[in-house]
Formats: sequence, structure tokens, C-alpha cells
Amino acid sequence: MGLRIKNHPILGRDLRKDMVSIEVDGKVIPAYEGEPIAAALTASHIKVLRKTKKRKEPRGIFCARGICTDCVMTVNGTPNIRTCVTLVEKSMKIETQEGLGKWREKPKQAKKKI
Ligand code: FES
Repeated sequence: MGLRIKNHPILGRDLRKDMVSIEVDGKVIPAYEGEPIAAALTASHIKVLRKTKKRKEPRGIFCARGICTDCVMTVNGTPNIRTCVTLVEKSMKIETQEGLGKWREKPKQAKKKI
């Protein structure tokens, strides 16, 4: 599965079992529940996580510690989520972020009639 190391010479075999599916820009990829989102994306060869506001230049993991914000993406409709320190949950919807990102509009609710 992608770039994952299944049998590490020092750490041994990868024994994780809880695979889930997450959606990234409309494409479904496998991930381990509880691993950082950025790790799951890297394992699936996804390296561009956002694009800069002015020049639309690609950005990806830089510090991997939650400090630099190069890895921010829109997660479940919420922009500016640091994917290097945010853990995968089942059925997450993740989008590459353009610039400062946009909040997904909430669906309009029907007005109650009295
Ligand atoms: S890579 Fe720096 S905050 Fe995520």
C-alpha cells in the first residue's frame, strides 16, 4: 500500500489493523484510524496539501510538528486544519486548500411553519 514500510528491520512488522477510508479531493484512499492525516496522504503519494494565496505555489509537510502551517487543508469543511498533527477519523473528507481556504456553506434549513 503506497509508501508504507510493512516490515521494518528495527521496529519489526506493522501490526496496525484498523484501516478506514478517507476522501481526498474526491478520491478515496486507505488510512489507519488515529494516524496523522499527512502521514496517510504521504503513504498514498499525495504531497501537495495546499497552494499559496498569491502565486498558487504548492506546499506540503515542512515541520511536521504543527508549527509552520504548510500542511493546512480543509477537513470536513473546516479550513486551516494542520494535517500533520490532526488524526484520521473514519469517513473524513479532505480537500487541498487554496490560499486561506473557504468555509463550506451549511445547507439551508427549511423554515418552520407555524
Ligand atoms: S508541517 Fe508544519 S504545521 Fe504541519
